[in-house]
Amino acid sequence: MSWSAKQYVAFEDERTRPVRDLLGALPEIAARTVIDIGCGPGNSTESLAAHFPAADISGIDSSLDMIEAARRRLPQVRFTVEDIDTWRRAAQGPKPYDVILANAVLQWLPAHEVLLPALIAKLSFGGALALQMPDNLDEPAHVLMRETAENGPWSAKLASASSARPAIAGAAWYYELLRPLCARVDVWRTTYYHSLADSNAIVEWFKGSGLRPFLAPLNDAERTEFLARYSAAVRRAFPALKDGSVMLPFPRVFLVAIR
Ligand SMILES: C[S@@+](CC[C@H](N)C(=O)[O-])C[C@H]1O[C@@H](n2cnc3c(N)ncnc32)[C@H](O)[C@@H]1O
Repeated sequence: MSWSAKQYVAFEDERTRPVRDLLGALPEIAARTVIDIGCGPGNSTESLAAHFPAADISGIDSSLDMIEAARRRLPQVRFTVEDIDTWRRAAQGPKPYDVILANAVLQWLPAHEVLLPALIAKLSFGGALALQMPDNLDEPAHVLMRETAENGPWSAKLASASSARPAIAGAAWYYELLRPLCARVDVWRTTYYHSLADSNAIVEWFKGSGLRPFLAPLNDAERTEFLARYSAAVRRAFPALKDGSVMLPFPRVFLVAIR
């Protein structure tokens, strides 16, 4: 299953809140050139454009569906289908970037020890790398995905599903990686508590993100059965509160590095 803009934007307000928090933590930067890498349907780009109204803004994403949605949303922004790993290897353009925003994407890419320094190298001096990554692989919704994968007839097909998203390193590791290259490195972690209508909403949330590598290798019948088993497990793990809603804790790591 490739990334789907329609599935992703179902929880857009919740997914965009970390972008606002990340941009709010930036120092004053007279940014002229900014880019949103892994821009998705343009929700993060919209916040970036509002924060830097005078800047030249672009966005890249590896999904055509996402880029088409982003273009419809922000026709004035230059959006390109491009993989971040290809982009970071490409020769520097005429101008360095003053801000690189990467919200909820770098957790899908390996080798942060190479990737992050390469992103810093694309910044102007005084420019900022602003990134946020979910830190939720040990949360029940993810544990249950892995358990459902391991304990079903699809276990062989899904043997490598969880490696699609490697575990991220700790805050000190990111700090020590970037501190020699940057004037300032700020790392923090926040747990959001999302109030969702019911446990089915949790399943729908992850269909737009973490479940993708588990659902993609399955045929239609297997996918239906996988989702039925996963939904039942999620229902047990997230009992309804008094008003019928459920609460999804969602830890996220943030990093602002100033070159
Ligand atoms: C969880 S969404 C984040 C979207 C948006 N930045 C936001 O703040 O909500 C992750 C996005 O990263 C994109 N993506 C994943 N791996 C990528 C890669 N290697 N290069 C470029 N984009 C990638 C996906 O297509 C998807 O649109």
